[in-house]
Amino acid sequence: MAERQRVGVLVSGRGSNLQALIDAAGAADFPARIVGVISNKRGAYALERARAADIPSATISHRQFEGRAAFEEALIAQLRDWQVDWVVLAGFMRVLTPTFIRAFAPRILNIHPSLLPAFPGVGVQQAALDYGVRVSGCTVHLVDEGTDTGPIIAQAAVPVRDDDNAESLAARILVEEHRIFPAAIRQIISKPWRLVGRRIVFEDAP
Ligand code: GRF
Repeated sequence: MAERQRVGVLVSGRGSNLQALIDAAGAADFPARIVGVISNKRGAYALERARAADIPSATISHRQFEGRAAFEEALIAQLRDWQVDWVVLAGFMRVLTPTFIRAFAPRILNIHPSLLPAFPGVGVQQAALDYGVRVSGCTVHLVDEGTDTGPIIAQAAVPVRDDDNAESLAARILVEEHRIFPAAIRQIISKPWRLVGRRIVFEDAP
């Protein structure tokens, strides 16, 4: 197998998607390994998960810095130090500016808990319920300079039930997140692909 790609993961919270990636990367044929985890929140449970898996981690709080530019420079410096090939956003709750995006694009991935382009941003399970959709789900996409607007790699749908609240819907979506995020990362890293307009087209290796 080709050398594994080096992945840096950005988190802000409990890190259940990080855990799904750690577990997937345990497979001998997974094309990537997580070389570092950065949290912008001190004490995030995701940091415990990194520690338990012997993955280097860092806390870089946006509060330590005067502005977004300095915060992002610190993120970029740490990721470069780890020599990452890919950046994975796994529940990272800060919007990144074009400075950060340009440092790593197109190799930045995000998981979002709605069927994009419906319901970008935050509070999306409640937004889906309020709208009255019958189906929601999750999306893995390349990150571009917009908010949740990049080319889509994978999606999974779940039903919305009459008695759902934001928590029950989020829990049903999360099960699918944990399934499609590692699968999408495996796919985008190991298969040749190109962009046709905003569509990602995978070319089967000969
Ligand atoms: C997930 O629902 C993810 O889609 C969203 O934030 C949540 C993070 O959960 N961006 P976790 O920290 O991975 O458990």
